[in-house]
Amino acid sequence: MDFRSFQSSSVIDPIKLQYAIVNSDSLTVLKSMQNDTIDLIMSSPPYNIGKAYEEKTSIENYIETQEEIISHLVRVLSDTGSICWQVGNYVNKGEVFPLDIFYYEIFKKHGLQLRNRIIWRFGHGLHASNRFSGRYETILWFTKTDDYTFNLDSVRVPSKYPGKRHFKGPKKGQLSGNPLGKNPSDIWTTIKEDWDSEIWDIPNVKANHPEKTVHPCQFPVELVERCVLALTNENDWVMDPFAGVGSTSIAALKNKRNTICIDKEAEYCEMALERIKKLEQGFLKTRPIGKKIHQPSINDKVAAVPNEWVNLDIFGVYK
Ligand SMILES: C[S@@+](CC[C@H](N)C(=O)[O-])C[C@H]1O[C@@H](n2cnc3c(N)ncnc32)[C@H](O)[C@@H]1O
Repeated sequence: MDFRSFQSSSVIDPIKLQYAIVNSDSLTVLKSMQNDTIDLIMSSPPYNIGKAYEEKTSIENYIETQEEIISHLVRVLSDTGSICWQVGNYVNKGEVFPLDIFYYEIFKKHGLQLRNRIIWRFGHGLHASNRFSGRYETILWFTKTDDYTFNLDSVRVPSKYPGKRHFKGPKKGQLSGNPLGKNPSDIWTTIKEDWDSEIWDIPNVKANHPEKTVHPCQFPVELVERCVLALTNENDWVMDPFAGVGSTSIAALKNKRNTICIDKEAEYCEMALERIKKLEQGFLKTRPIGKKIHQPSINDKVAAVPNEWVNLDIFGVYK
């Protein structure tokens, strides 16, 4: 593997790390890797839905190919390590196959333990007409052993009621929360709302998200950052076997972790390298972790009920 060194341009907090962007088939690369070397594997695999970078096949063939890759992922994962597998649905002739159900079986068969099934919720997307519109995907978080890294304090979020106190018992009157914030829970409403509303090109909202590249299904850096911060320590190794334009590696390097990124498409690997260079020079724009989600204001024209609908008495949802 061809490793490069990453040295941030920051004078206040300079960092030295290693990274590799490998333009290859992930199974080939994984076969050459040593056991127990990676602390976090975070990825969004192809969903077998006929995107430009994949050939659609039967669900059985798809799962069989993925299983061979997963057996190597489990082998290269350290004993304190985690795998975060971000997936949605495979849809065939209108029938929905939730991929996490299929993947759960595979990871379990290879001895991993599920710690959370995280719901990544978003407010925009395709509008279905023969079923309810899908507005979430999942991240399966598995560990290899019971002795896994989990830094909850690194990812706490502001509590809704920080002033809440115990109202009875020996702690009566004392603050009941944690000054560092609360557990972010297993439902994550991160960037996707902003992300989609911005790329849907809605008037009054910026037309381009700062992270958007040529890739058709990039995940937001912020989503990976939460996993990197909670499940690894500084100088650990983070890998993505289906890396696209390198969002996992960006999140890793940004937070002082070494990283390996594999993708079979040269164009995406070049883009990943370009993004890493920009990060190194301090120019890469990413959405800050924990930034509030865009809420349309009542003065926002597209958020108001149009006059044409106000007097319609169909189902009354806008009354
Ligand atoms: C869902 S995308 C991942 C996007 C990524 N999370 C990002 O933020 O850019 C899946 C990626 O897997 C890559 N891929 C598919 N099969 C592969 C294989 N056998 N080996 C390596 N990469 C593969 C595709 O080129 C695609 O970029």
